[in-house]
Amino acid sequence: MSSRTSDVLVIGGGIIGLVTAWRAAQRGFATAVVDPAPGGGAAQVAAGMLAAVSELHHGEQTLLGLNLASARRYPEFAAELTELTGLDLGYRRCGTLAVALDADDRTHLRDLHALQQRSGLESEWLSGRECRRLEPLLAPGVRGGLRVDGDHQIDPRRLAAALLAACERTGVVLHRAWAERCTVLRDRAVGVATADGTELGAGQVVLAAGSLSGRLAGLPRDVLPPVRPVKGQVLRLTVPARYAPFLSRTVRAVVRGSQVYLVPRENGELVVGATSEELGWDTTVTAGGVYELLRDAHELVPGITELPLTETRAGLRPGSPDNAPLLGPTALDGLLMATGHYRNGVLLTPVTGDVMAHALATGDLPEEARPFTPARFGATHRTEQPA
Ligand code: GLY
Repeated sequence: MSSRTSDVLVIGGGIIGLVTAWRAAQRGFATAVVDPAPGGGAAQVAAGMLAAVSELHHGEQTLLGLNLASARRYPEFAAELTELTGLDLGYRRCGTLAVALDADDRTHLRDLHALQQRSGLESEWLSGRECRRLEPLLAPGVRGGLRVDGDHQIDPRRLAAALLAACERTGVVLHRAWAERCTVLRDRAVGVATADGTELGAGQVVLAAGSLSGRLAGLPRDVLPPVRPVKGQVLRLTVPARYAPFLSRTVRAVVRGSQVYLVPRENGELVVGATSEELGWDTTVTAGGVYELLRDAHELVPGITELPLTETRAGLRPGSPDNAPLLGPTALDGLLMATGHYRNGVLLTPVTGDVMAHALATGDLPEEARPFTPARFGATHRTEQPA
């Protein structure tokens, strides 16, 4: 095999691309990743909540099954990555408390609680006083909340660094370049041309380019994934040692219809997120975005205004039409997808790696991933030439 040809070539070195490459290499595939900055992507902005239960939405019960499958794999997955790389992922089984600030929020949370119960999930309704007993810095006006001990967190930046190290250790080749065009020959994806004109050949190509996945040139229109960027602005604050423990678990709420969450890390970082904006490729951090996050977070936990604000950043979630990922083989032979993870990329990382390794080895999706076939949005098989 030349260094420019691989069994599996993954387009995109974010956490989804890296976990796919790592798991493929473990199966014995000669694997490469093409990305100008592997280890980057949306994970550099994400808060890392593993929130299968507290982020449950009506109409997303199928996705819930995949989210729960991935959450169950996290302890073993994190332990395996740490053992291989020596890197700590900041995996913290600290639980989540979703609180209500007014009567509307309370109705919304009661509805979420009922949906969780109908779905067989564990969550406990608490009075405002019980919420404040758990988290004494909560605002006195908190009217009640939902305690979800099973929703944990991980540090996505550490996760990305560990996955990159795991790829290097398992022999994954990293091509630090832009994948400009998928090369299609006789109705089969056979590789990628990079921005500098290099041709990278592959037995199978995996498109895992996050929000950019829908822009890859060379693919037939009906094979391109319907993935769009959904902007999220996120703040990072630091809890000085004299204020610790500031919060002992993730605290979240819907304030005036917008989600706000505070994710406290063991190292003193406090992540506050996130806006959700349909603004195309814009990643500007705006005064309005920062203002709204701080205003809403301050209503939940007034003491945050004392903390140093250390970072403001915006990233792009890869949104799909049904908020669920696109996984596995496509209508174009030789092309698979692992994209469209939207709000759940960090949570879905373990199961995505397993599903994609299975799909690469067998040509099929395992049972739990069948509803997430890319075919649900387009052609199931192609015979005509690409556009
Ligand atoms: N899952 C959190 C977010 O997308 O903001």
